Amino acid sequence: MWKSVAAAPADSILGLTEAFRNDGNPSKVNLGVGVYMDDTGTTPILNCVKDAERIMLGVENSKSYLPISGDPEYGRQVQRLIFGAGSEVISSDRAATAHSPGGTGALRIGGELIKRFRPQATTWVSSPTWANHQGIFTAAGFPIKQYPYYNSETKGLRFDELLSALRSIPAGDVVLLHACCHNPSGVDPDGNQWREIAAIAESQGWLPFLDFAYQGLGAGIEEDRRAVTEFAARGVDFFVASSFSKNFGLYNERAGAITVISPNSREKDVALSHLKSTVRVCYSNPPAHGGLIVKTILSEPTLEATWRQELAAMCGRIVEMRRALVDGLAARGISQDFSYITRQRGMFSFSGLTDETVAWLRENRAVYVVGGGRINVAGLTSANIDYVCDSIAEALA
Ligand code: LMR
Repeated sequence: MWKSVAAAPADSILGLTEAFRNDGNPSKVNLGVGVYMDDTGTTPILNCVKDAERIMLGVENSKSYLPISGDPEYGRQVQRLIFGAGSEVISSDRAATAHSPGGTGALRIGGELIKRFRPQATTWVSSPTWANHQGIFTAAGFPIKQYPYYNSETKGLRFDELLSALRSIPAGDVVLLHACCHNPSGVDPDGNQWREIAAIAESQGWLPFLDFAYQGLGAGIEEDRRAVTEFAARGVDFFVASSFSKNFGLYNERAGAITVISPNSREKDVALSHLKSTVRVCYSNPPAHGGLIVKTILSEPTLEATWRQELAAMCGRIVEMRRALVDGLAARGISQDFSYITRQRGMFSFSGLTDETVAWLRENRAVYVVGGGRINVAGLTSANIDYVCDSIAEALA
């Protein structure tokens, strides 16, 4: 079957992790995949997760299937996290949530669902965007186009160009937006800018699809939902893909959710019926464990308080490492101004390093950075920061 088939290229992010694992250099540093590491270089299991698992072990009495859309209480807790407890979306009962295998599963299920009812739609992604966005929506059958987003000269948003592109996107097309902590750039619209974007979505009639993989890793859980709030206020149809890989550290549990927001409860019921039939033919019903951890934490105020503290500590360490990187590069006399790295949000820094420098760092210093220059700041530690700064200084010399 495979005789005349060429091998698929390695994944641009996860393929890098494989190459890193096989690298025998004892000084190697993985700044590729977006996985949080503490200052000892390990990806910890959060205390709230361990506590939740202990509770689950005592009360869980069956491994029978979950409902197609997952545990209803999980759905309620996810909605509280996404919209906030007092949200009109919740009181009007106009959002349907299905527990998905991770954020990727959420994006793909959302894409499959939209494709059924909007077969002619194009999906628009930011330039640049997370490498897998294009793959997911192409696999779901959509042509892909890009809208302007990041300005590599100013290291900020191309806001005017973004708005004029969004004003020309036809009704019915899908516009994929990063709700916070834009991956890879770390540059987000502010609250007023989200308001303008949401107003265009309403007047143009395109379908907003928010990738919300980093809630709580930007300015905070409440602050990071600003985009969601602005679209909710418009009363338009929109989609939100949540991931609990990063903010709960549940990477290998594949815990996520797809939420479909409709203008009213009646349409939400219709949306939910089709969401369930889409899930049924993809993976039938979700894997339970990771979602039950999230549900247990969010249903128990003391566990939720612990989670919020642990999440804040992760963010604090990332902010410190941003500063250490900028200071470390300046201390080595590099003339290029890297101060923008401290203004970027989330786990990533769009470092400004060229693909040539990225290749040099990997080949000569076993420092792994994603093509395009995206650095996982959470991979920097007090033990490797000097080595990384020395390596970058040498590469740029
Ligand atoms: C990343 O961007 O590094 C993460 O979202 C992990 C992945 O699956 O690519």
